[in-house]
Amino acid sequence: MKVVVLTGAGISAESGVPTFRDADGLWVGHRVEDVATPEGFEAQPSLVHRFYDERRRSLAEVEPNEAHRALARLEDVLGDDLLVVTQNIDDLHDRAGSTRLIHMHGELLSAWCQGCDAHVPWTRDLGDLPPCPCCGVTALRPDVVWFGEMPYQMERIMGALAGADLFVSIGTSGAVYPAAGFVQQAMRAGARTLELNLEPSEGSLWFSETRHGPASELVPRWVDEVLLAVTP
Ligand code: APR
Repeated sequence: MKVVVLTGAGISAESGVPTFRDADGLWVGHRVEDVATPEGFEAQPSLVHRFYDERRRSLAEVEPNEAHRALARLEDVLGDDLLVVTQNIDDLHDRAGSTRLIHMHGELLSAWCQGCDAHVPWTRDLGDLPPCPCCGVTALRPDVVWFGEMPYQMERIMGALAGADLFVSIGTSGAVYPAAGFVQQAMRAGARTLELNLEPSEGSLWFSETRHGPASELVPRWVDEVLLAVTP
C-alpha cells in the first residue's frame, strides 16, 4: 500500500510550535507580506532575519511528539511505500526519525545563498549577515519558501500522489495552495483520502474520511490500524 502523508503546523502544535492561523498563531501580530514574501525581505531584511532567527533558536526548546514519532514508526514498516510531505519548517519529523520526507516549504535549519545558489545546513542566526560558507559572499537568506515562490520538489510530490493508494492530511488548515489541492489530486488518482485534524479544515469536504482531535492521539491510533492491516 502506497501512502502519502501531508503535514502542517497542527502536528507540531502539541510540541509547543505555534501554528499560523489559530487564535494565538504566528501570523497574529505579523503581516504575512512583511515576513513571508520576497518583497518583504527586500524591504526589511533585518526584520525578516529576526523573525526566522527567533524561530530557529526556539527549535532548541521543543521536542517531537507522539504524532511525529508514529509517522517514523510507520516508515520503519512501509519503507519507500511511505512519503511524508511537510509544510513545516521545523525539524521535528527529522528528529523523530522520518527520512522519506520532503520539506516542501523549506527548513529553518538551512540557508540559501543568493550569490552561488548553495543550500547549506544552518543552525546559527542569519541577522548578523554571515558570509556564505561556499562562496564567501554575504547573500544568505532563510531557506524558506515564501508566498509567491515555488514549493520544493513538486514533481516528486505529484508523482507520489499519482501513485498513492491512501492520502492522509494531518494538522493543516487547507488554506494554502498547492498543498491544499493535494487531496483532489490523490482523489483523482483513485486514492482513499483521510483527514486527521483538530477541527474540520477548509478542505474537509474533499476527504473520504475525517477524524477530529489532537494529532498526538489521532496519528498514533491511525498508524496502529495501518500496521495491523499490513503486517502478517
Ligand atoms: N492536532 C491536530 N491539528 C491541530 C492541532 C493539534 N493539536 N492544533 C491545531 N491544529 C490544526 C488547526 O485546527 C488548523 O486547521 O492545524 C491547522 C493549522 O493550520 P495553519 O495554522 O493554517 O497551518 P498550516 O496549514 O500548516 O499552514 C500552511 O501556510 O502560512 C503558510 O507557509 C505557511 O506552511 C504554512 C502554510
